[in-house]
Amino acid sequence: MTRTLHLNAFLMGVGHHEAAWRHPRTDPRRIADVRHFQELARIAERGTLDSVFLADGLAVGPAVRHNIQAVFEPLTLLAALATSTEHIGLIATASTTYHEPFNLARKFASLDHLSGGRAGWNIVTSAQAREARNFNLDDHPAHAERYRRAAEFVDVAIKLWDSWEDDALALDAAAGIFADTDRVHEIDHHGPHFRVQGPLNTPRPPQGRPLLVQAGSSADGVAFAARYAEAVFTAQQTLADGQVFYAGLKRATAAAGRDPAGIKVLPGIAPVIGGTEAEARALADELEALIVPEHALAQLSGMTGLDLSGLPLDGPLPDLPDVSAVQSHQSRYQLVVDLARRERLTIRQLIGRLGGGRGHRVVAGTPEQIADQIERWFTEGAADGFNVMPPLLPDGLSAFVDHVVPLLRRRGLFRHEYAGRTLREHYGLPRPASGYAAARALVTA
Ligand SMILES: Cc1cc2nc3c(=O)[nH]c(=O)nc-3n(C[C@H](O)[C@H](O)[C@H](O)COP(=O)(O)O)c2cc1C
Repeated sequence: MTRTLHLNAFLMGVGHHEAAWRHPRTDPRRIADVRHFQELARIAERGTLDSVFLADGLAVGPAVRHNIQAVFEPLTLLAALATSTEHIGLIATASTTYHEPFNLARKFASLDHLSGGRAGWNIVTSAQAREARNFNLDDHPAHAERYRRAAEFVDVAIKLWDSWEDDALALDAAAGIFADTDRVHEIDHHGPHFRVQGPLNTPRPPQGRPLLVQAGSSADGVAFAARYAEAVFTAQQTLADGQVFYAGLKRATAAAGRDPAGIKVLPGIAPVIGGTEAEARALADELEALIVPEHALAQLSGMTGLDLSGLPLDGPLPDLPDVSAVQSHQSRYQLVVDLARRERLTIRQLIGRLGGGRGHRVVAGTPEQIADQIERWFTEGAADGFNVMPPLLPDGLSAFVDHVVPLLRRRGLFRHEYAGRTLREHYGLPRPASGYAAARALVTA
């Protein structure tokens, strides 16, 4: 079977460039308007993209002085998009550190029912101390502990989605039997972090389970993804880095006893599209000129864990501790350090580079040049698809759908129309059977 690209539209405010809200081609008031996001989802659907995705953070800090913050809670917003779209997948971020499995399993099962099987969950462990302080803590749990809790969290959620077998709803009005309780199971989970009796109080979702997505690229992150993830979002700056990450994750997935084709790798790409390369570069320069340096420096300090505010902007990054000492986003930290060292960037140059995608790859060029880059990573073992991060919204997403997608179709790399109805079908992934149904079938066999 020919491989097909998987394309996800990463929706964020009025664009991924950190100064997008200051650009004349955007209207920052739209971030609190559901019609803005409905329009974005319809544009993505017009391009037959696999899915749209919403990130999430559980705190707002002083950065709000200079930059946009998301307004809507992702699952709530996606429920609104579910009723104004038909095919596009709906992926929401939710943290395993600051939620309970029963509540989250129920919300994703509900979104999957509401959307007719289009829900996906980007599993994050959250990494900011400011978030911890909104949940009864002074600081966030350690990196490795967050991933241990995340693994048990997902185990419980899977058992809860499986706790109703597919044919448990009897709806036998004559006999007065609503549900066949032989097919509705208590999960009786007892673990180091959670005790959950179950069953879930929502019948089994149309997809069986929402698509499981993950976005951590550290050693702990890769081990977690190899066990659970069906799609992985990652930030990779060079083709070589992308190939190493891709091969490593596929190997780890096979070592975890899974089919490597069952995990899709989607690096981020921030396409700055112009009719000519010069036009695209001019837009990139315009956006960079709108960056608020003190805000960008505060972002970089947050990423590195070091207060860089007193350092000369035209000097290099100072010596930084080894990544093993980092308890927040380990892979992003490493990426930023490697980028600065590899290209001998000053702090000013580095914040300019990070402004367009927070470490994800920014590509400025014509639609052909963007399509070439996408084709190269896809055919040379660095990607199964891309997390598309337009610098300006909605313009940048429309430009991608109207000018890059047709080229990818013409090259035989991307679908012309949706073949399936569910998010799993878009990603070419099977619908998992309920673990309880499988166990009952063994007993009655
Ligand atoms: C495309 C993408 C989207 C992400 N979205 C979120 C998010 O919405 N919320 C969040 O807390 N972390 C988010 N992250 C961060 C990851 O969950 C993770 O913390 C980070 O990649 C570092 O993981 P690591 O420490 O395992 O390397 C995202 C990462 C990527 C690559």
